[in-house]
Amino acid sequence: MVQAREHWSSKMGFILAAAGSAVGLGNIWRFPYVTGENGGGAFLLIYLAIVFTIGLSLLVAELLIGRSTQRDAARAFKESAGGAWPLVGYMGILTAFLILSFYIVIAGWTVAYTVKSLTGTILASGTEEVGAVFTGFISDPIEPVIYTAIFLALTVFVVLGGVASGIERAARYLIPILFIILLVLAARSVTLDGAGEGLSFFLKPDFSKVGWDTFLAALGQAFFSLSLGMGAMITYGSYMRRDDAIVGSAASVATLDALVAVLAGFVVLPAVFAFGAEPSAGPGLTFITLPSIFAQMPFGAFFSALFFFLLAIAALTSAVALFEVVVSYFSAGDPARRKPVTLWVSLASFVLAIPTSLSMGVWSGYTIGGKPLLDALDFFTNNITMPLGGLLIAIFAGWVLRRQVVQELGASGTLVGAWQFVIRFVAPVAIAVILIAGLI
Ligand code: PHE
Ligand code: NA
Repeated sequence: MVQAREHWSSKMGFILAAAGSAVGLGNIWRFPYVTGENGGGAFLLIYLAIVFTIGLSLLVAELLIGRSTQRDAARAFKESAGGAWPLVGYMGILTAFLILSFYIVIAGWTVAYTVKSLTGTILASGTEEVGAVFTGFISDPIEPVIYTAIFLALTVFVVLGGVASGIERAARYLIPILFIILLVLAARSVTLDGAGEGLSFFLKPDFSKVGWDTFLAALGQAFFSLSLGMGAMITYGSYMRRDDAIVGSAASVATLDALVAVLAGFVVLPAVFAFGAEPSAGPGLTFITLPSIFAQMPFGAFFSALFFFLLAIAALTSAVALFEVVVSYFSAGDPARRKPVTLWVSLASFVLAIPTSLSMGVWSGYTIGGKPLLDALDFFTNNITMPLGGLLIAIFAGWVLRRQVVQELGASGTLVGAWQFVIRFVAPVAIAVILIAGLI
């Protein structure tokens, strides 16, 4: 017997859950440093343009595939077209699992840094000292693994609660908290002496710095940030009711995700400039540059703890989404299987997370393609399987999906026409370009 599929409790519930999936480390840790590396304002503009064209169109496509079939990422393809298409779903499920296994490691660091902000052990003056503290922490064989386990346990707790009373409920509480913390931190940062320079870096486009690679960076960032190309939004779409509206909700999710990225820019960049640090410091901007800034601020320990707590919350609702992609597939729509499947998936991801964590320290000598395991997983998913998944999903939605399903979008003819133009031509070409450029 087929059990009734779980559903979101309301339109708002869906928007918050999907925003929880989208808003993550990608917005608060990754977006500010990628913006810093790519020259500021011009990057912001290009990023927003991509989010609301290609990004939004692909988000609509994934939700439609999920909603029309009411199935997980692999069965959704089987049900709507068959053939080799379910392979796209399997690749997505594998991608979700691989991302999960390094995402929980980095998320574990954010939990550790929340605690360590309060005990003051990470707040040294000078980026060199803070850098040494960070390297010392991530290369310890035991401590980061324990924090990964703590974060994983929180994720499992939410996923075990199910779709409406676990995932949606967590987002209902955590997303508002996240916005409040972001606003407090942004208000602190933009009122620092010397914040103006950071603000103009972020908001004044300087197109002389724009190159081919600016577009590539923006497209990759938009993809990761909106959780596209790996079936997360197909899975969340499959928990919508068949008559739930897609286009408006997708626009809300994209807007919330962009808003959090922009607010994170307001938190990080003015502070970086006010304290004379380098905006192009890369991934270390959050874990190295920021603690050295917090150390120089009044009540710095408090703001530091608040910032890393914010990151941990954002990461939690995203890790839940990655988990759900895998759990949804293996439990095959049977609610009775959610619990055992969740426990097995958590065990498996922990098993992969251990060497991933150790690859930052004692096992850094073992590399894959010249990279430690953590970077190799990041590279493989971000540069290969996610864009490839996105490309195939766009082709599927644009050229394979039956017209009758497309009509279920329920939007005006002009809107559907615009969506089809982007999903058939613009998105496949643009994604094919990043995919190839990313490999060479
Ligand atoms: N969108 C999340 C972020 O910005 C990452 C993510 C990717 C989550 C894919 C779920 C699925 O951090
Ligand atoms: Na995001």
